[in-house]
Amino acid sequence: MPLVVLLLVPLLSPALAWLPMEDWGSGNVTTSGGGLECFCSAFLPDTTFPAERVQHMQQVTTGLKREVEVQMSKLVHYNGKLEVYLEELLDLTVRVAMLETSSDDYIKLDFELLKTELREFEALVSQLRDSLNTSSPVLDSLYIEIHNMTIIVNQLETFDKSNLEVIRIEFAKLQWKLEECQKDLDFIKPDIGNCNHTGILTVSKPILIQMNAHLNPGYLYGGWGKDSKPVRGYESMYWYGAYSSPSVYEFYLYSDYDKLIERSSFTHHGLPQGYEGVGNNYIVHGNTVYYQAANPFRMSKLNLTSSGYSHRQMTKASEKYTYIYSPNQFLDFSADEKGLWVMYTTEEAKGKIVIAKIDEKSFAIEDEWTTSAFKPQAGNAFMVCGVMYTTRSRDMNTEEIYYSYNTKTGEEKHMSILLQKFQEKFVNLHYNPTDQRLYMYNNGYFVSYNVKFGKE
Ligand SMILES: *[C@@H]1O[C@H](CO)[C@@H](O)[C@H](O)[C@H]1NC(C)=O
Ligand SMILES: *[C@@H]1O[C@H](CO)[C@@H](O)[C@H](O)[C@H]1NC(C)=O
Ligand SMILES: *[C@@H]1O[C@H](CO)[C@@H](O)[C@H](O)[C@H]1NC(C)=O
Ligand SMILES: *[C@@H]1O[C@H](CO)[C@@H](O)[C@H](O)[C@H]1NC(C)=O
Ligand SMILES: *[C@@H]1O[C@H](CO)[C@@H](O)[C@H](O)[C@H]1NC(C)=O
Repeated sequence: MPLVVLLLVPLLSPALAWLPMEDWGSGNVTTSGGGLECFCSAFLPDTTFPAERVQHMQQVTTGLKREVEVQMSKLVHYNGKLEVYLEELLDLTVRVAMLETSSDDYIKLDFELLKTELREFEALVSQLRDSLNTSSPVLDSLYIEIHNMTIIVNQLETFDKSNLEVIRIEFAKLQWKLEECQKDLDFIKPDIGNCNHTGILTVSKPILIQMNAHLNPGYLYGGWGKDSKPVRGYESMYWYGAYSSPSVYEFYLYSDYDKLIERSSFTHHGLPQGYEGVGNNYIVHGNTVYYQAANPFRMSKLNLTSSGYSHRQMTKASEKYTYIYSPNQFLDFSADEKGLWVMYTTEEAKGKIVIAKIDEKSFAIEDEWTTSAFKPQAGNAFMVCGVMYTTRSRDMNTEEIYYSYNTKTGEEKHMSILLQKFQEKFVNLHYNPTDQRLYMYNNGYFVSYNVKFGKE
């Protein structure tokens, strides 16, 4: 009986467990080497040399080697990215430390926010360390650096002086980049535009938390997000609008994420008299703002390209039922992989949410579905891949996605997907299909989430 002996390189040993036994021949398999080396012997029943099997084995081994190489190169690439962040962070620490000695600016400090960001940052780095599952000097330095930063910020707070605004902005940018890094590593690269999944599985912790661009804690009503179907050249654009009442007066546009964080808009659209909106559930889709006009009640759109307005009467939509966190939210606009939607309720539906598909060309309702979600108990609703998700409050800090309605199949589902809130109330929650994120306007703060979908 011929005896085939295979000795594999140490690097590959953890992968051996994936190989089915039959690949090793129908004989006796033993391993040794404390997991670092693997020695396998196979007694084959055949008297002829099993060239095919050996060849197959070689192919499997080559495949595994390649896999390991890919993983290693990812780590190298990853470390390179982290080094850049560390440099930026070090620079930031120096500038924060300098604040202790300068006393020029006495602007309103938001230490709580900065401290929250530091905590988030720390949690993120800690998570990164866990997912890498290997010691990384760069990550260790990042960790120490954040700790140092926290100490300095605490010291600054006792002095109660300086301009922390700049620091906070830089921090928010870094945080976003690290978050992207984390996604790379977790392989949750969004499969943009694909609805080949079983729906929302989980929602990440809140990622971006930033006070509104007016820096006004009284601006509780508004919204922010990205264009869900950007026109060419505006793929990175963000929008924002807010006010101290649910009335809708104006929109600001930012060319990219950094500009949003810096509160540096490239343009501003004020709604002229007679065109004002109400209700906060507006979105931007195809460089057009879709919003609920206040008086007369109707759905309106402002084309940001042409600055032209267009309206549509909503004869059936009721002005009686609103979401729990805000008055006057009668029309809730949403956009997903399937197009543009608006949700409302009717007298006929007795407060149950009705989903309507908007035909963009004619700006008319092309189809309607009545769900079992009672609007006055809901926090908000949004569409993903033609499925409506509805949320409700669990407690001060937690919202729950509890119900879904599939417009394609008519299927309803009950679920409990938790959504951590920064503050209790929010008035605009929507999904964006271009980055598969959720955007929330949370008591005057910008908050966002990553969404993870179930596999088919
Ligand atoms: C495997 O081989 C060893 C030594 O050659 C032998 O003692 C043992 O009984 C074999 N086991 C099986 C399951 O064939
Ligand atoms: C991390 O590595 C250790 C040993 O190096 C291993 O036991 C553990 O299962 C690994 N954890 C993950 C999540 O890969
Ligand atoms: C963090 O602070 C400690 C103590 O002040 C200091 O020794 C260390 O060099 C700092 N680390 C970095 C990375 O700046
Ligand atoms: C959808 O996913 C299933 C299972 O993962 C796969 O078999 C199928 O090819 C996918 N379809 C598309 C269009 O990606
Ligand atoms: C907005 O206006 C531009 C320029 O007139 C036009 O090409 C585009 O189709 C309009 N978009 C919508 C959604 O009406």
